[in-house]
Amino acid sequence: MAIDLKGKDLLSLRDWSAEEIWQVLKTAEYLKMCHYAGKENEVLKGKTLAMIFTKPSTRTRVSFEVGMTQLGGHALYLSASDLQLGRGETVADTGKVLSRYVNGIMIRTYKQNDVEGLAAGASVPVINGLTDDFHPCQVLADLLTIYEKKGRISGLRLSYIGDGNNMTHSLMLGGAKLGMSVACASPAGFRPDPAVVETARLAAASTGAEIAVVESALEAASGADIVYTDVFVSMGQDAERERKLKALADHQVTEAVMARASANAIFMHCLPAHRGEEVTAGVIDGPQSVVFDEAENRLHAQKALMALVM
Ligand code: CP
Ligand code: NVA
Repeated sequence: MAIDLKGKDLLSLRDWSAEEIWQVLKTAEYLKMCHYAGKENEVLKGKTLAMIFTKPSTRTRVSFEVGMTQLGGHALYLSASDLQLGRGETVADTGKVLSRYVNGIMIRTYKQNDVEGLAAGASVPVINGLTDDFHPCQVLADLLTIYEKKGRISGLRLSYIGDGNNMTHSLMLGGAKLGMSVACASPAGFRPDPAVVETARLAAASTGAEIAVVESALEAASGADIVYTDVFVSMGQDAERERKLKALADHQVTEAVMARASANAIFMHCLPAHRGEEVTAGVIDGPQSVVFDEAENRLHAQKALMALVM
């Protein structure tokens, strides 16, 4: 039985149930099949998505914009520096005003609070396109990729190696909800937020997934079905660059790390990647890497999300 998701915000996967996430994945699978058959579903004809960016983007911007075109609608790119937001208009007022013109708002920014404030003002669905704390759209695409490659999600083991960041948080929440165990290996000082880990553990209690935080990359990778990493220096952290590269040097995904994982493990990365920092070129450009299928799935997963909530 389909759940009605019209009007629902995606601020974090914390607020989405397993059934709701599966509805996005199944819809994405269908829309992807139609896309490859040359038949787009113009279910958002006449609708507009506003896309607010205060940080750079390649995948998020292009996949949302192309996705809206394919669904028969239109997407509007709004750089925060060109909006009155940059001159002190509140996020809540921005949400109220945009809701008079558009049918959905996607925002990529720093503070999660700003996304929540925008959603509080808006009467149309708000989608988090990445904050310092979460990246739920990426994880919808990642779950779709895992499902396609492995034929299931529940019971799998994902090892996240590197900086405990927005990606780690969303992977833990998404994994926990769908029954996939997530083990994160990060050095002290660069571990995921304990409050998010706790939320993921609570969700995992009913699905049988295990959510773990360990020190050693080799320990986390042992027997993994998926090895995942992300940049050591996220957007907005450039001042900490040297300190982070030094502290995280032992948490690079190397061929030795991959050798600890299951023989048919896949390697994933949300991209952009910095070869030689968080991952070796041999791994990301090697036979186990699925990073470009994963990037493509941003398009299909977000089309499903927009078709369901807008
Ligand atoms: N993975 C991702 O969100 O990429 P962009 O920063 O290019 O949007
Ligand atoms: N953790 C990275 C993800 C980029 C898609 C960042 O926030 O910059």
